Amino acid sequence: MSKNNIKHYDDSVTIPKTLLSVSNISISFSQYSKGLRQTILNVVEDLDLDVHEGEIVAILGSSGSGKSLLAHAILGILPMNSLLTGEMKYEGKILDQKLKEELRGDEIALIPQSVDFLDPLMKVGDQVIGDIEDEKREEKRKTMIKIFENYDLKEDVADLYPFQLSGGMARRVLFSTSLINNPKLIIADEPTPGLDEKSLKETLNYLKIMAKERRGVILITHDIHAAVEIADKIAIFYSGYVIEVNKTENFSGNGDKLLHPYTRALYKALPDNGFQLFEGNQPINIDTKDKCIYYDRCNQSIEKCKHSNPDLVEINGMKIRCYFVEEQHNKQNSANG
Ligand SMILES: Nc1ncnc2c1ncn2[C@@H]1O[C@H](COP(=O)(O)OP(=O)(O)OP(=O)(O)O)[C@@H](O)[C@H]1O
Ligand SMILES: [Mg+2]
Repeated sequence: MSKNNIKHYDDSVTIPKTLLSVSNISISFSQYSKGLRQTILNVVEDLDLDVHEGEIVAILGSSGSGKSLLAHAILGILPMNSLLTGEMKYEGKILDQKLKEELRGDEIALIPQSVDFLDPLMKVGDQVIGDIEDEKREEKRKTMIKIFENYDLKEDVADLYPFQLSGGMARRVLFSTSLINNPKLIIADEPTPGLDEKSLKETLNYLKIMAKERRGVILITHDIHAAVEIADKIAIFYSGYVIEVNKTENFSGNGDKLLHPYTRALYKALPDNGFQLFEGNQPINIDTKDKCIYYDRCNQSIEKCKHSNPDLVEINGMKIRCYFVEEQHNKQNSANG
């Protein structure tokens, strides 16, 4: 469903400038099976997401739900055998492959998951500054030193090799690298797994500062706590679909403001919220659109859910892909006249 077709139940909310708008994105892979038969594997379907200036959007979902593929689609680094359809806009302009390549590492930057992304054979400063003409090098070095200062890195760190850095310093170097060209949009793909409490807090704080500087930040994570701590809104991915986008403040209390049964189940599985485990796995084959993608695990399904996968609809500034919630909302609206 294209963005224009999204049903808007409430348009009264004012929103800041949209940096990135992803509409109706699908990603598939062509694969060759036995006998050289070509098969198409659909892995991301009908994906919608907006990121505004100064906003942190967390993307939360279990392994294989399509989080990294979305990041790679935005950056224009999907593998050759993939097919991307749908529309992306950056500051209102169509974000095609050519524009992605122009903006990548410049206006749109990636913070990779691991410090292993640093080249072990290259001095840190050269990596942060990147490949650049000689006449611009001095200016860039000055920018790097300013960024280093903000990240508690001394100027002489530039002359070290990655193996000479502590884990914390290496992470701060990665953050500095992402900022060197003053990007407006930052994508952090799982920047926190395996970090101790102090490093986790520090990393999240850096992302918060980036948003305070009016950058848009996409935080891809498995960690609800991390998402709740810093995000403005949280998008839940399930089997290649966005199934809910909700305000962070609704991830609180007993979770009754969360809309989708999967989001509530994720929330209630947290140790602080009762550790209530739920059964089943997300389906891998998303080609079967003859029922709701969550139907087999759902405890609130209605007749309609047996026959098609719901669209993502907007309700009071939140987004939800669930017939039951939509029906409840419509009933309430007609009861209120
Ligand atoms: N090159 C590829 N060819 C075929 N399928 C792929 C390819 N890359 C990813 N996939 C499939 O696409 C789906 C989504 O992958 P993706 O890497 O986006 O998951 P993810 O949500 O980032 O998971 P994780 O949390 O483990 O990083 C997975 O089922 C994965 O197997
Ligand atoms: Mg991933």
